[in-house]
Amino acid sequence: PLVNTREMFKKAYEGGYAIGAFNVNNMEIVQGITEACKELQAPVILQVSAGARKYANHTYLTKLVEAAVIETGVPIALHLDHGNSFELCKSCIDGGFTSVMIDGSHLPYEENVALAKKVADYAHQFDVTVEAELGQLAGIEDDVKVDAENASFTDPAQVEDFVTRTGVDSLAIAIGTSHGAYKFKPGQKPQLRFDILEDVSKRLPGFPIVLHGASSVVPEFVEMINKYGGEMPDAIGIPEEMLRQAATMAVCKINVDSDLRLAMTAAVRKYLAENPSHFDPRQYLAPARDAIRDMVKHKITDVMGCAGKA
Ligand code: G3H
Ligand code: 13P
Ligand code: NA
Ligand code: ZN
Repeated sequence: PLVNTREMFKKAYEGGYAIGAFNVNNMEIVQGITEACKELQAPVILQVSAGARKYANHTYLTKLVEAAVIETGVPIALHLDHGNSFELCKSCIDGGFTSVMIDGSHLPYEENVALAKKVADYAHQFDVTVEAELGQLAGIEDDVKVDAENASFTDPAQVEDFVTRTGVDSLAIAIGTSHGAYKFKPGQKPQLRFDILEDVSKRLPGFPIVLHGASSVVPEFVEMINKYGGEMPDAIGIPEEMLRQAATMAVCKINVDSDLRLAMTAAVRKYLAENPSHFDPRQYLAPARDAIRDMVKHKITDVMGCAGKA
């Protein structure tokens, strides 16, 4: 069924695991992710960014996700990723999404509170769950690039006030992850501020925390892309071991987009390089879909810990 995130997060919190939240942009991506979830009986969040909605259109994406519900039978939440306005959130809520993120993390604190509360008040009338964010990740989302210098870790002293006053259902925090395929500089040691996560979860007992920018930038895909004509030197992500640890803690949602892009691009590049005369898109999109499925199966089993939790 299409569900909101409430029950998923409650079980994940108590069970010490996380739900995978994967960005979807087309049919093959939806199929690859949800085939993995069906095989492993894992609940899942399929999330749509403003950019995805612009690319594929709201109706196509919601119908693809509804098809996945029918085909898999596992609990699926349809979530707006990084909503930047009340109007966008409302449009997704009215249009059948079961969960939305209102991202006011770049706003002054009081404005972030007011916006998140407005969205939560509206969403809850329709039993739609709401994610908000405190602190700023580095990296790139849509056209907004946040330099490492302008990124800021979440201040644990704010979280209780924020959650109480807004009524949101989950909170994304900044502890050193970032969006995109270049999360750390070459030679820089990947690090996450688990002390902040710990502090936040002490102040918000039982409250679901969300980790954005959590792709591991799978080295095998980066190598494959570079081998078959791509150029992604120094692409680097969050080590799986750290994500695994976060999943055992208060983190109930782990966001992955870059790893899907890498899997798809690596598979397409390899296929086309090895089969230069082929031109039927099904021929190169089938291995791309398989690569996504296998990558997601690995994450569900070995990183999120949500296999068998459907
Ligand atoms: O957080 C950003 C996600 O990776 C979505 O990316 O806005 O390019 O669709 P997008
Ligand atoms: P990645 O770029 O690490 O996949 O992060 C995706 C994300 O946070 C989507 O909201
Ligand atoms: Na968890
Ligand atoms: Zn994000």
